[in-house]
Amino acid sequence: MLPLIVANWKMQLSDADAVTVAGEVAGSPIADAELVLCPSFTALSRVAEAVRGSAIALGAQDCAADTRGALTGEVSSEDLRALGCRYVLVGHSERRQRLGETDAMIGKKLRATTAAGLCPILCVGESFEERTEGKREAILTRQLDVLRGLSLVGTQQLCVAYEPVWAIGTGHAAAPSDAAQAHAFIVDTVREVAGAAVADRVRVLYGGSVSPENVAAFLAEQHVAGVLVGTASQSAARLRAIVAAAGRDRRI
Ligand code: PGA
Repeated sequence: MLPLIVANWKMQLSDADAVTVAGEVAGSPIADAELVLCPSFTALSRVAEAVRGSAIALGAQDCAADTRGALTGEVSSEDLRALGCRYVLVGHSERRQRLGETDAMIGKKLRATTAAGLCPILCVGESFEERTEGKREAILTRQLDVLRGLSLVGTQQLCVAYEPVWAIGTGHAAAPSDAAQAHAFIVDTVREVAGAAVADRVRVLYGGSVSPENVAAFLAEQHVAGVLVGTASQSAARLRAIVAAAGRDRRI
């Protein structure tokens, strides 16, 4: 399976800039990798237009926990799908930490996305304190428990992004071998909580200061099926360089 490169533009690009970057990336060939762009909600339809006819897929950065209802300001998974999204980030650490998202909310969002036929990208990862206290596996176990009993229909997929919080936006990526250990633990835990059928279909991505320089080293590790990229995905040149590097020197 080709490596999956997911660009998380957060709230960093204006809609106009998002359309420009999407158009530039869509204009060059993408071989040996699958690329997903996650602009902000307001840019989704224009970015969808900019990448039409290319192999680039569209993702959202969040979704509502409910399917529909009196929920001012929320955006439903069904509407995201209708806009052309195939992926949705769920439980990004910025939302957990700065917007108070709980595992319970994240679990509901996850089910709302799968019910709408989207592929959730569940973001998990430990903070610096949790890591130094030796709690990484306990944190991952707790965060992955939202997958308990999950079933996927048809060819539906699930992604889990391992994003150690201390590596996000800091320029200090995890060591690829260290990330690989976490990925192996994640696959085992998914098997335990959601069963073999889900575990066989899960793609575990690494996120946290991924760059054109380090992406190949992550993808060379076992169980690293792709990357979730913030800062380095916000320029077309850097994003293209990541996609190019992802297609080279891949061992698995
Ligand atoms: P970063 O962000 O690549 O800037 O570290 C990753 C993310 O938050 O998904």
